Amino acid sequence: MRTTWENIAAGECGRWATGTTAVRRRRPSKWASPMALLLAGAWVWAAGAPFSAYGAASKQKSASIAPINTDLSAYEKKFPWKPPQTLIDSLSAKRTDTNYDEAKVQPYVLPGLFDSAGGKITTPAQWEQQRRGELIELFRREVYGVAPPKPDTLAFRTVEADPKAMDGKATLKRVAIGFQLKGEPFTFHLTLFVPNERRGRAPVFLLLNHRGPDNTDPTRKTQSEFWPAEYVIGRGYAVAAINVADEVEPDNAKATTGIRAFYRQHYDKPGELTWGALCAWAWSGSRAMDYFETDPDINPSRVAVIGHSRGGKTSLWAGAQDTRFALTCVNNAGEGGPALARRNFGETLGQITRSFPHWFTPTYANYAKKIDALPVDQHQLVALVAPRAYHGGDASDDLWADPRGSWLSLVEASKVWALYGKAAAMKDEMPLVNDLYVNGPIAYHIREGGHGLTLWDWKLYLDHADQLFKEAGK
Ligand code: GCU
Repeated sequence: MRTTWENIAAGECGRWATGTTAVRRRRPSKWASPMALLLAGAWVWAAGAPFSAYGAASKQKSASIAPINTDLSAYEKKFPWKPPQTLIDSLSAKRTDTNYDEAKVQPYVLPGLFDSAGGKITTPAQWEQQRRGELIELFRREVYGVAPPKPDTLAFRTVEADPKAMDGKATLKRVAIGFQLKGEPFTFHLTLFVPNERRGRAPVFLLLNHRGPDNTDPTRKTQSEFWPAEYVIGRGYAVAAINVADEVEPDNAKATTGIRAFYRQHYDKPGELTWGALCAWAWSGSRAMDYFETDPDINPSRVAVIGHSRGGKTSLWAGAQDTRFALTCVNNAGEGGPALARRNFGETLGQITRSFPHWFTPTYANYAKKIDALPVDQHQLVALVAPRAYHGGDASDDLWADPRGSWLSLVEASKVWALYGKAAAMKDEMPLVNDLYVNGPIAYHIREGGHGLTLWDWKLYLDHADQLFKEAGK
């Protein structure tokens, strides 16, 4: 059945087109904003069909989900980070084109944080009025591409709700986020749980999930450390997710469906859009932010955006551009994320643009062989989050993602928080493994183990958020 505003309002659509049937709809669906009511008459929106504009063929297979390990005692041990030689040797043997030896890192010169076209930046006002815009333009032009503005027809509809989810601890909402171009609809969904026990509007963690939808199962039959919704609710936060690779833009260099193809076909000025997939995914995070601003259960000034690996590159680009995100959490995101591109350790610009050309704007690959000509580096991207809160997370064995390169990037970027008087100057020495390092709004941790977003990571991201948000009450 094609799902329209009329039959949703009449209560005829109680099921997801994707076959997720166990979510009960407890109350009639409703528009989340009065503006949307005006739009309702103007166009028919396939709100219940997540792949209406995208095609179910783009659905990714989820990897099998490991049970959540709730025993966090191992992480109580804190110790200095020193990757064992055996790990370095085995990684080096697997990828002979990759440097994993700290001693072989070549000297590099980073582009200046404060060297604006109009002279040296010395005040927060100059940073905001001159440098911030310059840097965003450079990252758009050279790295992530240009995305379209917020669509005029953007509207939200709660198409599923359950006020007694998680044994009555939370309210589930499934929100269709949709818009149209030239009469054609595009829709994706936000899954949101809000804690029922709370004072006032809830702060929220929004995961930009590039892995399969099983990680963000609204029925909670499948529970994953990647999005431990029960745990986050238990900590007093709302928790939300968008399945960006399944519903927004496929993670595929040859994609002919997804939001970028949709804009190519239906946008007035398609030539202006140079966005790669990371940029498209980040754009969807900003549309979720638009929704949070309309939901009376959510505190829109307490929104954290979080992503892992390619999702972490995405959350960083989202948090750098969209100043409505109060906290940007970046997990194991390495190259193309917070790690310094000029540091030859782990994955390189050449490798990432060869393997994942669709993540970036095409220009980025041109710098593979002339990295020193790249007019930006990733410390400048991290700095664009300032003076808001930033939390980087790495894993001790994840050398491909160059944890030290992400830390050094943050050390440089911290100078912008220092300009605002919000954080102290930082040192090159990395924090202890498993520890939470906090410097004003900046936090960082390196968790023991390999590439992944685990319950311990979530605990530390939430510990940081507690420190940031507690005065405002949760
Ligand atoms: C690859 C890629 C990384 C990326 C990772 C992931 O390893 O090279 O840049 O972060 O996939 O997203 O899991």
